[in-house]
Amino acid sequence: MPGILIVDFGGQYAHLISRRFRQLGFWTEVVPYREAEKASEQFAGIVLSGGPASVYDVDSPKVNLNKLRERPILGICYGLQLITHWFGGRVKPGRRREYGKAELEVVKEDPLFMGLPEKFSVWMSHSDEVEEVPAGFDILARTEASPYAVIKRGRIYGLQFHPEVSHTEHGLKILENFAKLVCGLRPNINLEDKAHEIIEDIRRKVGDGRVICAVSGGVDSTLVAYLLWKAVGERATFVFVDHGLLRKGEVEEVRDLFKEIGIKNFVFVDASKRFLERLRGISDPEEKRKIIGEEFVKVFEEVARRLGPFEWLAQGTLYPDVIESGRSKGPAAKIKTHHNVGGLPEKLGFKLLEPLRDLYKDEVRRMAAKLGLPERLVKRHPFPGPGLAARIIGEVTEEKLKICREASWIVEEVLKKHGLYDDVWQAFAVVGDDMATGVKGDRRAYGRVVLIRVVMSEDAMTADWVRLPYNVLDEMSRRITNEIPEVSWVAYVITSKPPSTIEPQ
Ligand code: XMP
Repeated sequence: MPGILIVDFGGQYAHLISRRFRQLGFWTEVVPYREAEKASEQFAGIVLSGGPASVYDVDSPKVNLNKLRERPILGICYGLQLITHWFGGRVKPGRRREYGKAELEVVKEDPLFMGLPEKFSVWMSHSDEVEEVPAGFDILARTEASPYAVIKRGRIYGLQFHPEVSHTEHGLKILENFAKLVCGLRPNINLEDKAHEIIEDIRRKVGDGRVICAVSGGVDSTLVAYLLWKAVGERATFVFVDHGLLRKGEVEEVRDLFKEIGIKNFVFVDASKRFLERLRGISDPEEKRKIIGEEFVKVFEEVARRLGPFEWLAQGTLYPDVIESGRSKGPAAKIKTHHNVGGLPEKLGFKLLEPLRDLYKDEVRRMAAKLGLPERLVKRHPFPGPGLAARIIGEVTEEKLKICREASWIVEEVLKKHGLYDDVWQAFAVVGDDMATGVKGDRRAYGRVVLIRVVMSEDAMTADWVRLPYNVLDEMSRRITNEIPEVSWVAYVITSKPPSTIEPQ
């Protein structure tokens, strides 16, 4: 599919740019900078993303722009500096970082700014800046601190600011103008067609083989299951493992969901006892995650042996994971060990099917909706692989599991009642070992402290705590202390990510 190639110079910028173009309906691919030259031939336009390096660092990432220049290029931040450096201009190492909003003034008309006002707010985040524009480049726009905020020669553009962040006014329009007016593209993403392509691809690959797929009831694995079912029907088997760390009513919910969608070959495995036994006495968060991951592989291996042989394993890997696995991961990826079904194919010798590997989460949701999967699935909040163990601080005990389960249920119910559930990214309760004094009836009662966490996010890389109305918080707090006798205090978590993560463990 023709589209835009995003060249990744590290950091989180490339995927954000890519997602923005996809939102506008243009197909994109993200490649590490080393692969840019080879990949560029199939694309109508190229974006050089931002990145943390300075063009003067000896080992800073570089691409040969002579090999890319037949196509329109949009260099953003580090991309602009690279263009400047490459074509003989000068970049000045910044003494201090320009960070935050600035007013951009367009000084020369250009298709890139078609339909935009002369002045608008843009988001800056850079330390190096252009000191001397390379020969033949025009200056299209400036800000007070950056006289060369947008430069251009032919179909090569450099932008000092970030059009991909939501703080930049008209950022999407700039990207759209680049795709449409400079690269001559028309929006071409159709998720229904894409689903059919995926189904055909699965059929072709799997042939007469059999596929096993772990499902969780979340939108990614359920969509994978649906596509598999359409592609190979009963030659696919779907395994749902209860590790004892699921939410209230989740087992029945997932069973009902699969029944409703019409998928057969659904295998339920109750492994809760063995998981909880192995978690006894363990309070270190990483240790808990490791145990859950290992145990999951064991359970899955047993089921695969019992019901096999299977040649293929299908999993719901999404696009950002594919790219991250191809190069060194940013610090964000290392903060917690994520244990889903990663590691399974190597251990068990399966061939791997990753039907969603080209897609972003919002595209997965939209594809599921287009295919008519139930709305409650499409809008379901993400839930971590290690389940409630990620929301229980310290050792996982029966008592804490019960409190976490009940309190999370209440948090979700109250949000739904007030019509807020669909507006937030995740909402749940956390419990640890802290105890606090309360009064129940006319007696002193020593009870647990429960934390409520409700966040907004676009991609879970960053998140903001939600300013819930007091009456909603009040209702949650009252219900939790009334309905769960072990709880005496309720608190609301008011840190964002960063510095906190979304899940506490
Ligand atoms: P953190 O807590 O790192 O979480 O800010 C970011 C997002 O990832 C989810 N999460 C996980 N998802 N397996 C998953 O599939 C995991 O092990 C895992 N740990 C955290 C978390 O719910 C949030 O959406």
